[in-house]
Amino acid sequence: MQKRTFLHTALAVGLVGASGLGLAQDNVFKIGLVLPMTGQQATTGRQIEAAARLWMAQNGDTVAGKKVQLILKDDTSLPDMTRRLAQELIVNEKVNVIAGMGITPSAMAVAPLATQSKTPLVVMAAATSSITQASPFIVRTSFTLPQASVALADWAPKNGIKKVVTLVSDYGPGIDAEKYFTERMKFNGAQVVENLRVPLRSPDFAPFLQKVRDIKPDALFVFVPSGAGTAVMKQFAERGMDKAGIRLIGTGDVTDDDLLNDMGDVALGVVTSHHYSAAHPSAANKKFVDAFMKANKGLRPNFMAVGGYDGMRVIYEALKKTGGKGGGTALLEAMKGQVFESPRGPMFIDAQTRDVVQNIYLRKVEKKDGQLWNAEFDVIKDVKDPGKTK
Ligand code: PHB
Repeated sequence: MQKRTFLHTALAVGLVGASGLGLAQDNVFKIGLVLPMTGQQATTGRQIEAAARLWMAQNGDTVAGKKVQLILKDDTSLPDMTRRLAQELIVNEKVNVIAGMGITPSAMAVAPLATQSKTPLVVMAAATSSITQASPFIVRTSFTLPQASVALADWAPKNGIKKVVTLVSDYGPGIDAEKYFTERMKFNGAQVVENLRVPLRSPDFAPFLQKVRDIKPDALFVFVPSGAGTAVMKQFAERGMDKAGIRLIGTGDVTDDDLLNDMGDVALGVVTSHHYSAAHPSAANKKFVDAFMKANKGLRPNFMAVGGYDGMRVIYEALKKTGGKGGGTALLEAMKGQVFESPRGPMFIDAQTRDVVQNIYLRKVEKKDGQLWNAEFDVIKDVKDPGKTK
């Protein structure tokens, strides 16, 4: 009897070894996290990795009886690399979820793989409106540029800003920001006299800023991706734009909490709109910021970290709900409609669009105890992505 059991087990283990699937695998839940850990978008990777690890440290690595395994890959923010890494993770590692996606072209490159393999893709950073329409398996926990831009275009004309030039990175999120900000400004009776676009890779802002100086608008509206804000801010100051009476406004990507303290006083008074500030005055956020800084040598979390942290929550809750049964489709269904309090404030995943609905805050850079913060001074509640047509 004992011998038979042993043989039986040995046979089973043998088969498992041969097929590459198996008993051990059944008890593991794999999250393939693809992020830019090096290169121009490295701050995004650093923030999201730290946030995902914090989530796991706080919530454990066993969910619904399964051991959660995070497999991190560096795509250096090159979309061909993102696609290749995601393919390996899906085919060889048999991950249950793909997550991360530091920039829009990365998310777009992986979308067809998510659809074909029925693997949920949790977009934690990329923010072009149309991303969620690229695959029915995409769920987003970051934000969208139309969501962030419209609020600022409602605020600006009421605050003496009637004539604006826009300056955006020339790709998906920048074009969304330009379009939604410009249309809304015009709708509000203000003027947008010029739309300028700078290349995503190694941008030189100088000639564009010179042009803005010559036009002399009330304000310059800026979108650059997380990590690039310091360069804009420094060159803005060097050219004496602020002294010439031109205000800088933008989405919160430009006064990114990861970089803000190093920008110096030129950032003081800059008004932005966004879904997350490390200064958000809630108990949940204070707890998050303290824990994040403690675990990361004083690094302040930015909006990318929050996208990663909440993305992990969405994955954990879906796994709890399904017990890991029913594969990618069941997991995806369990991600839809989740409602919770994030460090950013209340948010939910719209079951229809799979996109995030959240508060958008107006913020002004202020100094407190010698540090720069995006201090929130107004809120527009429960903002859906205005870029969605259905
Ligand atoms: C994007 O590529 O979608 C992206 C990247 C960084 C941001 C916002 C959007 O800060």
